[in-house]
Amino acid sequence: MITNTELEYKGNLYPKQVVDFRKDTDKFYFTTENGVILELTILRNSVLRFRYATDHVFEPDFSYAISPNHSRGFDEIRKEETDTDYLIYTSKLKVTVDKASLRVQISDLEGRVINEDELGFHWEENYEFGGNTVKMSKVAQAAESFYGMGDKATHNNLKGKRIQNWVTDQYAYSKDQEPLYKAIPFYVGLHNNIAYGVFFDNSFSTHFDFSHERRNITSFWADGGEMNYYFFYGPEMRRVVSAYTDLTGTPELPPLWALGFHQSKWSYYPESRVKEIATTFRKLRIPCDAIYLDIDYMDGFRCFTWDRERFPDPKRMISELEEDGFKTVVMIDPGIKVDRNYWVYREALEKDYFCKRADGPIMQGKVWPGPCSFPDFTNPEVREWWAELYKGLIQESGVHAVWNDMNEPAVMEVPSKTAPLDTRHDYDGHPCSHRKAHNIYGMQMVRATYHGVKKYVFPKRPFVITRAAYAGTQRYSSTWTGDNVATWEHLWLANIQVQRLCMSGMSFAGSDIGGFAEQPNGELFARWIQMGIFHPFCRVHSSGDHGDQEPWSFDEEVTGIVRKFIELRYQLLPYFYTMFWKYIREGVPMLKSLVYYDQEDHQTHFRTDEFLCGDQILVCPIQEPNAQGRRMYIPRGKWHNYWTGEVVDGGMEKWVVADIDKIPIFIKAGAMIPKYPVQQYVGEVKMEQLTLNTYFLLGTEQSTLYEDAQDGYDYKKGEYSLRNFKLTGKEKELIIQQYKDGTYITPYSTFRVNLIGLPFRIRKIQVDNEPVNLNDVRLNGENTIEVDKNFTSLVIRG
Ligand code: GLC
Repeated sequence: MITNTELEYKGNLYPKQVVDFRKDTDKFYFTTENGVILELTILRNSVLRFRYATDHVFEPDFSYAISPNHSRGFDEIRKEETDTDYLIYTSKLKVTVDKASLRVQISDLEGRVINEDELGFHWEENYEFGGNTVKMSKVAQAAESFYGMGDKATHNNLKGKRIQNWVTDQYAYSKDQEPLYKAIPFYVGLHNNIAYGVFFDNSFSTHFDFSHERRNITSFWADGGEMNYYFFYGPEMRRVVSAYTDLTGTPELPPLWALGFHQSKWSYYPESRVKEIATTFRKLRIPCDAIYLDIDYMDGFRCFTWDRERFPDPKRMISELEEDGFKTVVMIDPGIKVDRNYWVYREALEKDYFCKRADGPIMQGKVWPGPCSFPDFTNPEVREWWAELYKGLIQESGVHAVWNDMNEPAVMEVPSKTAPLDTRHDYDGHPCSHRKAHNIYGMQMVRATYHGVKKYVFPKRPFVITRAAYAGTQRYSSTWTGDNVATWEHLWLANIQVQRLCMSGMSFAGSDIGGFAEQPNGELFARWIQMGIFHPFCRVHSSGDHGDQEPWSFDEEVTGIVRKFIELRYQLLPYFYTMFWKYIREGVPMLKSLVYYDQEDHQTHFRTDEFLCGDQILVCPIQEPNAQGRRMYIPRGKWHNYWTGEVVDGGMEKWVVADIDKIPIFIKAGAMIPKYPVQQYVGEVKMEQLTLNTYFLLGTEQSTLYEDAQDGYDYKKGEYSLRNFKLTGKEKELIIQQYKDGTYITPYSTFRVNLIGLPFRIRKIQVDNEPVNLNDVRLNGENTIEVDKNFTSLVIRG
């Protein structure tokens, strides 16, 4: 074995012999003879934290990523010692720390290795900036795969890739281009049917190498700060993702309209154009809930102002749009125009809120309005001030929601595309340079925005969207994948990026449908809409200088297809809302890559295109022109083809027909999919009845339906309606049991149950153990029945 002393080459330094070991409640400290300390914290039975100091002292323990509400607590911890190792046990894991090298091995209690250090922790001193480049290398296990890492525009399985987290304004990025807009240093490893996760909570530029440089090695490092990572054990991927999401937090429920369809463009102006767009949606009967105003609504790109020529009376316009069912979302960027006659600039200047360069001058960089200065959102006082700025937009003008953009921060005409690295930040009382604050800058901006919007839209719920993000940003905001391009390849990328964001704790995500740069043809636009309606955030946005991108900008056939799919989205709103509820309650990603859905099936490990929307809808976008269908992998189990009703067995690839007006959709057998009627916007129609599309299964399956007032906070006082359905299908019988919770009374009183794929003719029906007359419950059709929403059991016999 090579010792660490022998490895001290190329300036790398390594821990030496452990000379001190102690335990302090849930923490263990291992100190080496050269002053390295490993602090191992047991957060939960399956969640550990590893933190290394190089010279006896740790930095103050502070992170923007960690949710204040994360779970803690474990059953037991035990330690043992041998001549060569320290052994720490939880009720799920065994951690072995090598006394000679401080290297760590983590295994399960049966002794199966989950993760092990290769060189383990090592570092290089950084002469120029001080501190260290901190590094970790681990053994990549046989056939190990890697997933997660935020918005990376590359194959779903990261094996063989090297990536960087440094949030960057990457206009018209290409496949594999690095870095992008988000820094989410979290990955999931999978080997031998064991999944685990690593979250490297370090806000400096971080780098990951997944068996790229050396086939059997995975490594990660940062340009500064501490080696500080969390380890999550599965063995199921769902536990890993849920534990990471628990640690970094989940958002509150959005207002339901935020899950509707949104239309955006850079930019809709003046008022008459905005109105025309809105009216056209209603005239053509294409549902839409929100219209976005990009930078051109402002007076010379000054945030928190209006261009009064284009928008003479924003309050009136917004309220008229509201009467027609539209919410208005406006953009706010971080760059504040350098202009002494502009109140926001003056205020920030007087209060000393702008970021400064190392030697004192206020930092300046060019953005849309020309030279700008940038509030230091890492200062809590600045965040409070920023939150208050929304008072005018919301209380006076009636704006409903806010879009934060360019918050990497993006700076134009400089090669770095961002603030100079010597720029100073408060970092909540831990002053530092931009090297450390860069990746969290946008997150802190949208955090301040979220608090401001929340305060002023109260008692309604806030909706906020951001482009830049660090791990944990999901607590405050939704997101999109930035400036993509109207190409078929970008449709493929958007599919992967949104799945990846969902796997990385940030489910409320979508792409610019149709592509931001350049213009899609009708076919590409239609195909993108077909996928986009299954993304948690569903918005068309485009750069505007390449032509129009409204649902009616192509031809009538395309308009018809787009309408049909947006209608489907609106029908599925209760399904999406329930997905969201599960996401925030249990950290379950809203979209699931196939590997997440069935990790035991090796066929899923390299799949990219197919995904589960929620738990029960399988979707596979068409990603090339002139397709009449495609081959796709259907995961194991029984699935109903949504269009044809055919029931198929999964566990194999199949050719699936999908002409231009269809996208391959399969519903998991046993699912009960709730549907609302089509509405032009959320709240338009009073719900008279809720449809439950019930897909027969020989066996059992559970489905959930969460509902509440769709906005406001009464749900927090128990005013929600939670229904769990247990379906049991037998050869000549179908039993549905309902379990209810919550005090919210839904406006409808009956369910319309569509029995799909029923293998027998109905002869008898019992509701709550009482036989009913078939003609009394049948609605137009053999297999459609109406039943009181509060039934507890429904038995259908052949
Ligand atoms: C950035 C955004 C884009 C926006 C444009 C103008 O490029 O990513 O969505 O339209 O700025 O504000």
